[in-house]
Amino acid sequence: MDREHHFHPFTDHTAMHPGGTHLIVRGEGCYLQGEEGRLLDGLAGLWCVNVGYGRKEIIEAVARQMKELSFYPSFFNSTTEPAVRLADRLGRMAPGNLNFAVFSNSGSEANETALKVVRQYQILKGRPNRMKILTREFAYHGVTLATASMTGLASCQTPFGLPLPGFLHAPAPYAYAAGREKDAEAYGQECVVATRKLIEKEGPDTIGAMFLEPIQGAGGVIMPPPGYMTAMRKLAREYEILFVADEVITAFGRMGAWFASELWSLEPDLMILAKGLTSGYIPMGATMVSQPVVDELLKGGYFAHGFTYTGHPVAAAAGLANLDIIEKEKLVERVRDKVGPYFQKKLRELAGHPAVGEVRGMGLIGAMELVPRGGRKDLKPGMNLGIVGAAKVRKEGVIVRGIRDLLAFAPPLVISESEIDEMFGAVRRGIDQLWS
Ligand SMILES: Cc1ncc(COP(=O)(O)O)c(C=O)c1O
Repeated sequence: MDREHHFHPFTDHTAMHPGGTHLIVRGEGCYLQGEEGRLLDGLAGLWCVNVGYGRKEIIEAVARQMKELSFYPSFFNSTTEPAVRLADRLGRMAPGNLNFAVFSNSGSEANETALKVVRQYQILKGRPNRMKILTREFAYHGVTLATASMTGLASCQTPFGLPLPGFLHAPAPYAYAAGREKDAEAYGQECVVATRKLIEKEGPDTIGAMFLEPIQGAGGVIMPPPGYMTAMRKLAREYEILFVADEVITAFGRMGAWFASELWSLEPDLMILAKGLTSGYIPMGATMVSQPVVDELLKGGYFAHGFTYTGHPVAAAAGLANLDIIEKEKLVERVRDKVGPYFQKKLRELAGHPAVGEVRGMGLIGAMELVPRGGRKDLKPGMNLGIVGAAKVRKEGVIVRGIRDLLAFAPPLVISESEIDEMFGAVRRGIDQLWS
């Protein structure tokens, strides 16, 4: 049935079907039950199941809300109580003056919504020429036509004739890929200079916003070198370009902070949330908008944007129950003080393995660059050692993500130290077999 009728996202169908599809049937805590057996989920679904699988509190909150009111929109002067409560909660907890939430159903939709907010804001400000959007190479912002254009990965663009015009890509501070990991800080500053040059070349008065993931996740867990994020924030202010932090992966505790923006005092003008907002129990995204931007939008009167399911009461109920768990179990502090440092220590213990070129990460996110037997100089495009490595680690009972030549890790925040040991034990056994 799967082969005949189900076209999977981000999948090579021809390659998948001879080996068979992985069917996952059950989840509890950090573990999944699949047809191939029990698996430790080192990627929290898709960087999203922050509170782990099977949480009764969320399941019961969702069931309660469904019994009470399964759906009503927030269009045309109406709304529902969970949507109001979640907007209030996010408005209070988000950094700086990000006081308002515009809800949606995914990270892509939350970014798409941000693009509409940015465009309307610039038009109302009397700057209709500021329609270009600046992002970075290796960025991942989603899959709609506009958000795929913001994404900085050829694999997401070339098949669809993207990017659309008006989307600019500055260099990513990916020091390892540039062979500059020994002077990453200087490389980061060179990226800032290159971004400034790009802005000057295009004309600052043509650029509406700069979208940045504080840590570039799907592009390969790229860590900003010291000084880089604050310099990019300064650059946006200097040129009056709105600064949008895409925190779809980094928000809700993964970095040991509620929001990664807090780590660099970024005070974004807009912030993008999804994934960890509901821990994936029900789809939901949110675009947080700062007070000055909202004040400008209010001058426009009618806000002609929204999806049928914007502020869905069941998703909002899941979000509220999810935030209750993160608060009650102090998961943010747990990542910051306990499991985050332990995870990073175990990751770094593998740095000396002959198949490893670099490890990096922070909190409960990490990456491991893999190299062939002859070393880094023998790396060739298309080797995809990360994909090969992830398949070997999976055979050892742990799911990790393979991206090009690297492994990416982002387990649920409820992971224990012994589960971290289990995870890196499987990673070690997997990469031991990489060259065989
Ligand atoms: C930073 C970032 N932004 C946006 C998205 C897109 O989110 P979605 O897949 O929910 O549309 C992702 C998904 O991985 C992401 O990591």
